[in-house]
Amino acid sequence: PAATPSAPRRRAAVPPYKKILDKFEDVRSILGTQKLSLAEKILYSHLDNVEDSLLTNTSNGKNIRGNANLKLKPDRVAMQDASAQMAILQFMTCNLPSTAVPASIHCDHMIVGEKGADTDLPNSIAGNKEVFDFLESAAKRYGIEFWPPGAGIIHQSVLENYSAPGLMMLGTDSHTPNAGGLGAIAIGVGGADAVDALVDAPWELKAPKVLGVRLEGKLSGWASPKDVILHLAGKLTVRGGTGLVIEYHGPGVETLSATGMATICNMGAEVGATTSIFPFSKGHVPYLNATGRTAIIDAVQGIAYGSEKHNFLVADEGTEYDELVTIDLSTLEPHINGPFTPDLSTPLSKFKDAVEINKWPDTFGAGLIGSCTNSSFEDMTRAEDLVKQAHAAGLKPKSDFFITPGSEQVRATLEDSNTLQTFAAAGGTVLANACGPCIGQWKRTDGVQKGEENAILCSYNRNFPGRNDGNPKTMSFLASPELVTAMSYSGSTSFNPITDSIPLPSGEAFRFEPPKGNALPGSGFSIGNPDFLPTSAKPDSSMQVVVDPESDRLAILEPFEPYGEGELKDLRVLYKVKGQCTTDTISAAGPWLKYKGHLPNIAENTLIGAINAETGETNVAYDSDGSKSSIPDLAKKWKSQNQSWLVVAEDNYGEGSAREHAALQPRYLGGKVILSKSFARIHETNLKKQGVVPLTFADKADYDRISANDSVETVGLYDVLQSGGQGEVRLKVRKAKRWGGV
Ligand code: F3S
Repeated sequence: PAATPSAPRRRAAVPPYKKILDKFEDVRSILGTQKLSLAEKILYSHLDNVEDSLLTNTSNGKNIRGNANLKLKPDRVAMQDASAQMAILQFMTCNLPSTAVPASIHCDHMIVGEKGADTDLPNSIAGNKEVFDFLESAAKRYGIEFWPPGAGIIHQSVLENYSAPGLMMLGTDSHTPNAGGLGAIAIGVGGADAVDALVDAPWELKAPKVLGVRLEGKLSGWASPKDVILHLAGKLTVRGGTGLVIEYHGPGVETLSATGMATICNMGAEVGATTSIFPFSKGHVPYLNATGRTAIIDAVQGIAYGSEKHNFLVADEGTEYDELVTIDLSTLEPHINGPFTPDLSTPLSKFKDAVEINKWPDTFGAGLIGSCTNSSFEDMTRAEDLVKQAHAAGLKPKSDFFITPGSEQVRATLEDSNTLQTFAAAGGTVLANACGPCIGQWKRTDGVQKGEENAILCSYNRNFPGRNDGNPKTMSFLASPELVTAMSYSGSTSFNPITDSIPLPSGEAFRFEPPKGNALPGSGFSIGNPDFLPTSAKPDSSMQVVVDPESDRLAILEPFEPYGEGELKDLRVLYKVKGQCTTDTISAAGPWLKYKGHLPNIAENTLIGAINAETGETNVAYDSDGSKSSIPDLAKKWKSQNQSWLVVAEDNYGEGSAREHAALQPRYLGGKVILSKSFARIHETNLKKQGVVPLTFADKADYDRISANDSVETVGLYDVLQSGGQGEVRLKVRKAKRWGGV
């Protein structure tokens, strides 16, 4: 339907197309008629220096993917409340009057889901007031649009307001690729990367390879966009997309709605992809219209498909992909993925057997729909259709039923269409427009105890142990909102709504018809509560950024002490780590998340999960006099004595999430070098960004020759850093007395 906006709206954020296309002309002048994928077109059109990036490390621009180091200038940045704190604190150290590119902050992660939006939202605001006040005041000062708690989840608000075909943006959240559903290149990053864009420094990315996913046919019946990505996750596994952009193409694309495409891109994060993207297509036009962005439709005319001049918003005909997967939407079955990992994918028709074979619980306690992944008007009206069918048969859900709208715009529109009232009448609980149960902020009231094995079904995107309710024994299964809704009426994991019936008291049997819904509201989206609209993007230098000096959750960052010229001398080994050392080992999550904006407080968890290679103890460090303490305590002691230090570690140091605190904390405590057998790529970059030197052993066996408290001096490091940062460095090591030295 060609919906029209229902109320006056904010001015549409139109990407700087002229600038982007001028850059694309530069790209063409270097690469000629070389066939390019859509992802390449958009990425390369955002290069700071096209020639420098495309011709360095490549054979005259022929083998860019996987080789070139792209220095990019994104168009915009979005940040969620948890990660925005450190991003803004780092931005503040740059002393700039405003951000270099448009930016937004979205308060969504720190809001609980328990009783419903009306009580949960005020309680969460009260509990996090100082953090929200800080973010709002900083946003006003630097001209960042601030979306207050309750306004919506970052990715849904971005899709409704900022994403557009051809845009390139960074977001401080791993599901930022959701915006790729509307034809943008949107990449999830850490705070320091976001700051690169905010201060107009080029942001670096190794040119990704491109995985093409060709969609054929058309979804029908119970199959939904969610099933495309649940199926793909099973095929690729959680690591299958590493270093790749997933680019969808083929005739099936034209059959999907914009929000359906966003769902598919959202969960590209679950296969480790750099991002995912759809070409500008039929489904985009009514969505842009309904969200009040006709200006974007006008702007992309002439640069989209079929345009002789640019053909910019689609891949070139005959593009070669590094890998290719084909999915026939016409024969795609609904899938259920999990538990504990999003790539354990089972077609619905085989799920009953899987439950039996794996001895998964046959009942589940809660069905949860919505979140940033699946809260579109289409998702919700299809779920509503099922609720109405069940209601007409006199049924109520057997399990608890929770609904999380992704934004105030969606929530208000669903209220106008009576959809939320239908859910509530069925006994569903409508939670705040926020992350809530998706990020462990779910206060369960159904009596399930921590440690108790149980199952839940949700339409979210992640299902690692403890993700939803903090209980590592909760088996979370991922499915489409339609499947979650229908199965909630039986409460059984073995129930297949396509083939099975639910017995009615009358003795008859009730079977669901396939769900029907509307891609968009007939008369456009409502704006909803105007209090949830964002603050102005105009910087206000008179605004004071609010940080209470007594706060234990926020602390203004002091710039780190710069390194002097020359070699690093008199470093001492603080700790020699044995075995795996993830970012969680270096900076634990859980209760520590509260201190994300307070570097001194969160630094109290530095390396507390690390095993001492010499004693086998965890988080027990020894000073040179033999006295023992925790690792953070010894680091703090050495910092107070101006004793710089290094950590020695084994392979893949810093694997796991991209948590930048794992690099910030050692730097804050006086760490200057991490010496390991190898590094996880993102963590190595994070260390460099924070000024910690990552060194790898030329001979891994040398790990055995260095011990805690040894003194270390670099030879050649300064020259290496002066000449681009890669090269051989020697270490002079003086053994500590304890280890037979002097
Ligand atoms: Fe929030 Fe979960 Fe999405 S934490 S941003 S709803 S993945």
